[in-house]
Amino acid sequence: MTEQVRKPLPHDSGPLHVTGRARYIDDIPLPANTLHLAFGISAVARGQITAIDLNAVRAAPGVVAVYEAADLPFANDVASAPVHDEPLLSTGRVNYVGQPIFLVAATSHHAARHAAARAKVEIAEETPILTVEEALEAESYIEYPPLVWSKGDAEAAIKSAPRIIEGRIEMGGQEHFYLEGQAALALPQENGDVIVNSSTQHPTEIQHKVAEAIGRPMHAVRVESRRMGGGFGGKESQGNALAVACAVVASLTGRPAKMRYDRDDDMQITGKRHDFRIDYTVGVDDTGRILGVDFRQYTRAGWSQDLTLAVADRAMLHADNAYLLPHARIESHRLRTNMCSATAYRGFGGPQGVVGIERVIDHIAHDLRLDPVEVRRVNYYADRPLDAAPSEGGVAPRPAATTPRDISGQEMDVASRGAAGAFPVEGTPEAATDGQTTPYGMKVEDFVLHRLTAKLLESSDYAARKAAIEAWNANNPVLKKGLGFSPVKFGISFTLSHLNQAGALVHVYQDGSVHLNHGGTEMGQGLFQKVAQVAASRFGIGMEDVRITATDTAKVPNTSATAASSGSDLNGMAVKAACDTIRDRIAGVVAELHQVAVEEVSFADGMVRAGSNEMPFAKAAQLTYEAQVSLSATGFYKTPELNWDRLKGVGRPFFYFAHGAALTEVVVDTLTGEYRILRTDILHDAGASLNPALDIGQVEGGYVQGAGWLTTEELVWDGKGRLRTHAPSTYKIPACSDRPRVFNVALWDEPNPAATIYRSKAVGEPPFMLGISALLALSDAVAACGTTYPCLDAPATPERVLDAIDRVKNA
Ligand code: MTE
Ligand code: MOS
Repeated sequence: MTEQVRKPLPHDSGPLHVTGRARYIDDIPLPANTLHLAFGISAVARGQITAIDLNAVRAAPGVVAVYEAADLPFANDVASAPVHDEPLLSTGRVNYVGQPIFLVAATSHHAARHAAARAKVEIAEETPILTVEEALEAESYIEYPPLVWSKGDAEAAIKSAPRIIEGRIEMGGQEHFYLEGQAALALPQENGDVIVNSSTQHPTEIQHKVAEAIGRPMHAVRVESRRMGGGFGGKESQGNALAVACAVVASLTGRPAKMRYDRDDDMQITGKRHDFRIDYTVGVDDTGRILGVDFRQYTRAGWSQDLTLAVADRAMLHADNAYLLPHARIESHRLRTNMCSATAYRGFGGPQGVVGIERVIDHIAHDLRLDPVEVRRVNYYADRPLDAAPSEGGVAPRPAATTPRDISGQEMDVASRGAAGAFPVEGTPEAATDGQTTPYGMKVEDFVLHRLTAKLLESSDYAARKAAIEAWNANNPVLKKGLGFSPVKFGISFTLSHLNQAGALVHVYQDGSVHLNHGGTEMGQGLFQKVAQVAASRFGIGMEDVRITATDTAKVPNTSATAASSGSDLNGMAVKAACDTIRDRIAGVVAELHQVAVEEVSFADGMVRAGSNEMPFAKAAQLTYEAQVSLSATGFYKTPELNWDRLKGVGRPFFYFAHGAALTEVVVDTLTGEYRILRTDILHDAGASLNPALDIGQVEGGYVQGAGWLTTEELVWDGKGRLRTHAPSTYKIPACSDRPRVFNVALWDEPNPAATIYRSKAVGEPPFMLGISALLALSDAVAACGTTYPCLDAPATPERVLDAIDRVKNA
């Protein structure tokens, strides 16, 4: 038997998923007296409640109790942000359509929902703040003043550039559309304690919020989460309201309480991806090289802070994507609007920042009549040299000296290198000239996109297909084809540095079977399987000997959300530490038995070997138990090397970068605006993959979800702040039939130079950004209808594509 890591094993719950036996919150058998909960929600986007009559609600069949804010015993607070700006139930103000005002507990789910609809709530309506323009006009901000980061002097660099290009792109938000909606179940225990089952990416936050709401210490609350039917960031903070509601009702009534949102309610109440408007001004030379760029990012945060600061920061952090920006200025406006509070969504602001710079590059290539792939390569950071050895300390080794360029793109000699360029440099010394520094002053030391791009262009037959598409477009007036190429460089780590920690608890039983627990949660991404592969590899045993168990705050405390793609990086390392502790203890027992040095004991193929002796792992476990040595251990890990100042925008927020690139081909019907993705080729960097099958699944799923965001998934709010697209009938997520007809996905197999678990890389979010190539391909097809740049906004629905075709044709 070889090591379990690196094997393309299927998802551990695959058979349960496809046979319907995987247990979600809604499948947990309920005690007979369980109460079912529903919120009564605001139908008005902004105003003050003047009268509230819940008599008809109380009188409705099956209703057991009805609660308003004043009935809540302790904290009325479900905010994820430390500013406590999200009450569970409104205290008088309503800030968006869908905001919970009161809570109904009834004998069934339907009884609770039907009763909630009978309320008479009078609200003195005020004019809601909905658009970016309205928010700017009203100076309605989540964070003020707008954050500004800069490197060098963008204004001067742009002004003196041979060409200046300006533009704007608007991109919509995105509904998570997890297949399992938000759900929670609270079971009251003796002493007023409570056990909460929650579909959450963040059990510790649920525990924390529940404890405050029932007026007990965190030790009185145990949160368990076996799996989610998808989270995608939508269950980082948005599950708080349900879990808190259930726990409060359980503690007030002594009865179990369960809550799950109906899909329409889920879509109206919970937050979505932040939509963005990005205005840009860029100065370039004749080869398409960026000399200076200025971004103004505007995002609608909705009514409360939630995770907006971190999301909008990440949009700024990814404003460079894969490109060296010698001079850059990024300004970020986080606007407070009367809509559901925008929240985490795969990529966490990164995709929005990346769309900004990819649009800039596309615009440059179009206006200069250059190949967009070439313009990208001209602007890439330099690759990490191939011969650089992986580092031990966890930091990528410095690449061999690259020849720095001055801001006009000329290679600089070493003498002029020290002169720091023609413009003053703020914050980041060296920054303007060293060729490898991000706008936030971090050196890019592990870049691989030159090599990766070359390989992808070759495997996807780029040059020949590009020529074939040009010929096709010249001969076909109705159907136009387009190609889009986009790379990604994504920073891995939580930008709130202290979150980069994880714990694990591992037990080895006397029969050699292993019970594994860590702080990460399973949402379909395969984290549990990958981490179990790590545990099996440390002990040299088979997968059947490792049992993966539900995430439980009573087993591993003080966990971070499973987010920022860092689940396997953090928990894999914590589990490794716990396993190695136990392994060393077993080795000590076996070494003593056979009178060999501890270092001579090895674990492989289900056997423990000591010199010429060997025994099954189970036997070694048995002996260790009999020697009165503990077979249980905790493990802990924190990411090294990080330091980050978000207000200044300077430091090392990321441990390393993950990379990838995609080429997408589309065909557009220019009479209707309808389109299809014909072919997609992807090469993605998952380091030395822990599990290539699961990682490829993440790449495929991420791409499709990213392409869905930018093509068909459209959120429409009307002038009264009502979401008009709150069901699958009006909100179009990709179906199986929307996937690329030809879909070639491969992993870039180069070990992570940073010392991560088995030199793998995080893979959950980065491939989402490869979906941007679909938007670029559509833009390319539209551009074939004329000569002007299409300036296609997202989502590029068929309507928007048709509109852009008209614009281009009539220009
Ligand atoms: N994959 C599936 N199948 N379901 C999900 O909900 N969430 C994504 C990504 N891949 C998600 C997914 C998001 S937003 C993140 S941050 C990562 O998985 C989290 O898991 P990881 O850190 O273990 O990669
Ligand atoms: Mo993912 S958006 O970090 O949960």
